[in-house]
Amino acid sequence: MNAVLAPHGTNPAFEAPAREDTVAVVLFGTGVVGGAWLRLLNTPAGARLRLVGAANSRWQTTDPNCLADRGLRENLDRGGDRRDDAALLAALDASAAKTKVILDATASDGLAATHAVWLAQGYHVVTANKAAAGGALEVWRALSEGARCRNRRYGDAATVGAGLPVITTLRRLRACGDELLNLEGVFSGSLSWLFSRYDGIVPFSELLRDARERGYSEPDPRADLSGQDVARKLLILARSAGFELEPGDIEVENLVPETLRGLPLQDFMARTHELDAALAARHADAASRGRRLRYLAHLDRDGVARVGLRAVSEDHPTSGLRGTDNLFALTTTRYQTRPLVIQGPGAGADVTAQALLGDILSLSGDGKAVISEYV
Ligand SMILES: NC(=O)c1ccc[n+]([C@@H]2O[C@H](COP(=O)([O-])OP(=O)(O)OC[C@H]3O[C@@H](n4cnc5c(N)ncnc54)[C@H](OP(=O)(O)O)[C@@H]3O)[C@@H](O)[C@H]2O)c1
Repeated sequence: MNAVLAPHGTNPAFEAPAREDTVAVVLFGTGVVGGAWLRLLNTPAGARLRLVGAANSRWQTTDPNCLADRGLRENLDRGGDRRDDAALLAALDASAAKTKVILDATASDGLAATHAVWLAQGYHVVTANKAAAGGALEVWRALSEGARCRNRRYGDAATVGAGLPVITTLRRLRACGDELLNLEGVFSGSLSWLFSRYDGIVPFSELLRDARERGYSEPDPRADLSGQDVARKLLILARSAGFELEPGDIEVENLVPETLRGLPLQDFMARTHELDAALAARHADAASRGRRLRYLAHLDRDGVARVGLRAVSEDHPTSGLRGTDNLFALTTTRYQTRPLVIQGPGAGADVTAQALLGDILSLSGDGKAVISEYV
């Protein structure tokens, strides 16, 4: 064990040994979301959880003293044991806790590819990582099958809308026989902020730089502007509603001109003004018709799915969106006259960490109503 992991203030949530009714957790990812989740362990809601392993992409620890250290996240940034997934899973296996959870708070494709394997091995998996549920349909089916064959749960509430109860609501409606007829909304905090601010006067590229500096956009804003992140979220929601779509089934409008897509980040940032003219024209056209631009996701009852920029009228649910809010408008057989609308912050470490905790607690019987069967 690396010396930098020496404890400097312990966390009382780790002092009691694991009992059968505690929940043992291995945490992958100690970044913004993982760090916020670690802080929740110090609250009464986290009292029944026992962290038995934690890792970032470079280092890990299963040492109880290191795990109990309130500086765990910072310490792991400086060093620890070499990464070895098998050693982390062995710590879970060794725990006396009946409920064993793998928590993925990364954006790693490699880890996402093992979610279904972990379920099939008998672990519960709780995740903020969209790459598995929002990937190929065969992976989605493998998650479902892995969970079903071992009677395990896949907690994916945090993959869409951060802490907003969107997936759970959709599944609950479906379990009650309520059919989704239409789903529409703004699923990206950064695109929500950009288009609620954009007035055609301040250049779009200037807003984009502002959003990046405030930490609203991804470090490479093309990850947001490409529409791929929104499309993944729509895919997860569509599948949760019973539409078995492939990623290619979603029509995606990429706001990044082809000439800028393959550039190194620095070169792209130097040429963002090339986005301005086309978006100014779209804005002027919308404004001339009394409309506003919004980057919308849409799914209809036939499973036709599209994400892209639309000019919405003033009475559209997303017209009044402010800040980084997300909005999900669900029209169903029983919410047909007016849609069921879920709106609020669609990003943020604390609310995302809370959604992860909610999924974990639901596994152990606390807050059972929060999570339903995977499909
Ligand atoms: N931030 C939000 O508001 C928010 C909201 C909803 C959902 N999410 C989702 O939550 C996930 C985490 O987001 P974040 O903002 O916390 O990202 P972040 O700050 O970049 O943290 C990512 C963490 O994952 C670690 N990691 C990467 N690959 C790993 C691997 N193979 N094994 C173990 N650890 C690995 C990184 O380690 P290193 O430090 O070594 O790189 C880092 O600790 C993402 O999927 C994101 O889309 C985020």
